[in-house]
Amino acid sequence: MDRTATGWALHDELPGPLPADEIIALNQPKADLHTHRRYEWNGWTFELPPGVFMPGATSRMIHERVLDGTIAVAGRRYAAMGIGLGVEAIIAGSLGAKEVYAIDVHPESVRTTQRYYDELVGPRSSAAFVPVIGDLFDGIPDGVRLDVITFNPPAVSQAVSEDPDVVRNVCAGAPLVARFFDQLADRELLAPGGEIFLIVSNTADLRGIIRHALERDFLPEIHYRHEWHDDVRTYLFRLQRGPAE
Ligand SMILES: C[S@@+](CC[C@H](N)C(=O)[O-])C[C@H]1O[C@@H](n2cnc3c(N)ncnc32)[C@H](O)[C@@H]1O
Repeated sequence: MDRTATGWALHDELPGPLPADEIIALNQPKADLHTHRRYEWNGWTFELPPGVFMPGATSRMIHERVLDGTIAVAGRRYAAMGIGLGVEAIIAGSLGAKEVYAIDVHPESVRTTQRYYDELVGPRSSAAFVPVIGDLFDGIPDGVRLDVITFNPPAVSQAVSEDPDVVRNVCAGAPLVARFFDQLADRELLAPGGEIFLIVSNTADLRGIIRHALERDFLPEIHYRHEWHDDVRTYLFRLQRGPAE
C-alpha cells in the first residue's frame, strides 16, 4: 500500500478485517487479568492491581515514541486516553509536558497511574498532572484545548469474552473510537495544530474507524505501520483537524 496516502485515499487502501475466527484466536484473554501482576520497562517496575491492562508490544509502540520525542509532549498539553497502567503519563511528566491528563473509565487504572506518577515523576516535574476517571472526555472541563492525544483503544471487533474487564481492555470495538472522535469534534477539544496518535490493527474495523474520523473532519496519515509474523497489520495513525481533500 502507499504509506504516504492521506485522507480518503488512505482509507481506500486500508485492509478489511481479518476473519472473525482468526481475530478471536489471536485475542484470547489472558487468564491472569484478575490477579496481581508485575511489569518492568525502561528501568521502572510496576505492580498491576487486578483488572489493570498489562502493556503489550502495541502499547510500547506508543511508549517508545513518546520517550524518544517522535510523539512530542514537552511543553504541550497532553491527554493519554485509556491510560491503563500509566506509562505514557509518566513519560510525559518526566519529559516536561505542560499538562498531563491521564484518563480512564476504570478507577483502579487511574489510581495506579497516580501512584506511579507520584513515585516516579512527582514534584520533580513542572507538569500539571490531572487524573481523570470517566468515560472518554466526559471528565475534561469545557474549554480545555489539547495539543497531543494518544489512544491505544480496545478496538478488537469480535467479542472475545463476556467478562466486562476484558471487553473494557480489549474489545469494546469501533463504536468507542467513533465516540472518541465525536467528542473531540463536538467539544472542539483539539487545539489548532493539535495531533492525535491512534493505534489500531486489522483485528478492528480499521476502515470504519478511519471513515468516521474523516467524516468528522480529522485528517489521517500513517505515522508507522507494523507487520507481525501473522496476518496482523498494526497502524499508528497521526490525525489532525482539517477536511480531507
Ligand atoms: C488497550 S488498553 C491500553 C492501556 C494503555 N494505554 C496501554 O497502551 O498500555 C485500553 C484502556 O482503555 C480504557 N478504556 C476502555 N473504555 C474506556 C472509556 N470509555 N473511556 C476511557 N477509557 C476507557 C481501559 O480501561 C484500558 O485501560
